[in-house]
Formats: sequence, C-alpha cells, structure tokens
Amino acid sequence: MSRLTERAPAKINLHLRILGRRADGYHDLETLFQAIELHDTLEATPAGSTSLHVEGDIDVGPVDHNLVLRAAQAFRDAVPGAPHVAFRLTKRIPSGAGLGGGSSDAAAALRVMNALAGNPLEQGALRELGATLGADVAFFLAGSSLASAISRGDEVTPREPLPAADVVVVDPGFPIATRDAFAWWDAAAALENPHDEMPAQVRTFAALRGLVRNDFEEVVFARHPELARVRDVLATLGADLAMLSGSGSCVFGVFERGAPVDGGERLVRAVVEDARVLYTRTLAEREAR
Ligand code: C5P
Repeated sequence: MSRLTERAPAKINLHLRILGRRADGYHDLETLFQAIELHDTLEATPAGSTSLHVEGDIDVGPVDHNLVLRAAQAFRDAVPGAPHVAFRLTKRIPSGAGLGGGSSDAAAALRVMNALAGNPLEQGALRELGATLGADVAFFLAGSSLASAISRGDEVTPREPLPAADVVVVDPGFPIATRDAFAWWDAAAALENPHDEMPAQVRTFAALRGLVRNDFEEVVFARHPELARVRDVLATLGADLAMLSGSGSCVFGVFERGAPVDGGERLVRAVVEDARVLYTRTLAEREAR
C-alpha cells in the first residue's frame, strides 16, 4: 500500500478546572478542548520494520520514547499482524507547551495504523487504546474540533464548533512538564474544587469570557510571572479570551475580529525577549483531523 499523510493539529484549552486528585494519582478534570490550525505532519509508509524519523527544529527528546512509536507498538499489540510502518514526523508544535502535540501525533499514528490495517478497530476501541497513551489522545481521536471532556480529560463529548477565529500563541521558549504542574497544584493546598457546571454551549468565544478559567494559571504564574504578563498583553490587545493553555508553557489569545499582527509581537517580546509568537486559527470542523 502507498504512503499515507495525516495532519496532527494542536489544541488549546478554553477552560480547565482541576476537580481533585484521584486514587490512581491522576486528577479529575473538566475541560474544553479547541483544535487549532497549527499542526505536525505524520507520513506513514508500510515497511519491513517500524521506524521514526523526526524533522523540524522542535526538541522532542529521544526518538525511542516518542509517542508515535509507542502508539504504533500499542496498535500492533492490539491488532496482531498489523503492518510495520516507517514514520516521518514533521514537528511544528512546541513540546511541553500545553498544546497537546505529542498526544496529537499519537492519535495520528493510531489513525494511520488503523487505516493501513484495514480499519480493524472501531472508533471507540481506538479511543480506548489512545487513552492508554495519554489523557489528551482521546480528544484528537474524537473527530470534533471543539469538545468538552471530564474524568482524566479522556471522556470526550464533541460540541458544535464555533466560527473560526484568529489565535495568537506565545511560546516563551521553555517547556513545562504536565506532571510537574499537577504536583504544583497538589502542593498549593490541594483544595478540591466543587464540581462546577461545564460552560454552556455558546455561539462566540467572547461569550465564554467570565465562564471559563484555567486552574493551572495560579500555580504556573506563581513560578513564571512573565507568563501572566503575556496573558495581560494579549488581553490588552483585545483578545476575546487570553489564557494559559493546559499546564503551559504557552499562552494564547483568541481574536474573533482578527489578530493584531505587528504590535502584538513587539509588546510580547518586551515581556519575554525570546518568545516565539505563532499566528494560527481555530479549526471549525465537525470532523477535525
Ligand atoms: O496523560 P499524560 O501522560 O499526558 O499525563 C502526563 C502526567 O500528567 C501524568 O503522568 C499525570 O502525572 C498527570 N496527569 C494528571 N491528571 C490528568 C492528566 C495528567 O495527574 N487528568
């Protein structure tokens, strides 16, 4: 069979509440995922053995530990006889950024493995397999560009997408490990949050303002105060929503009436000199890939 090419989009969290620590060490969450145009590209060619070649200037750590290879292995364990694949991953999504890049790569790997094997796994089974690789993988397999999620963030309910809007993502140039950010939240008094209502279905991003928050902001901004200032810059520039994404390190602004291209970059760099400013858009597809 010939080569397959799959897009692996990034996500931002429009809302993220940490409800409490669970017996299994994970945390119960309530979150809203939004897929964005910024994406990695995964090419898959059937081969005699499984391999991965990574391109791009993003530091992804040792290739042997890459989630693409772990996803391929998990798929072959679940579907004995599934073909071996030579993967080529072009990275654009920063790592340790709260943008779900590794999870999206894993979801893309599961999709291509399933396609190359003749679709032996139903969507539900594929999602269950994905959730064993990382809590965010289920969202990237759920098919909608906007979805709410509970439990570890892996019980996903697709939502009607919102009209596409510009997004400015600020990468401060350093990663934050999700595990560390949860430990900071645990150490910060471990106050269990009441089970809030998930924000209702709305028609604009602006309508979410005041209804949403990210519980990581308090503990992450305490350690990296410059990230709070970046968020404030994006809000001052007119972002309809400006927040930390996931456990960071990226901060994003959603601009429904268009992003302020020039001034934004200058003001952000005045706060974090080495910041990379990425201009992208939300995806507005029911069947996001
Ligand atoms: O699922 P994933 O591997 O992306 O999560 C990374 C780490 O973040 C986990 O090992 C766990 O420590 C923490 N985590 C958590 N609760 C969640 C998701 C992740 O405590 N709902």
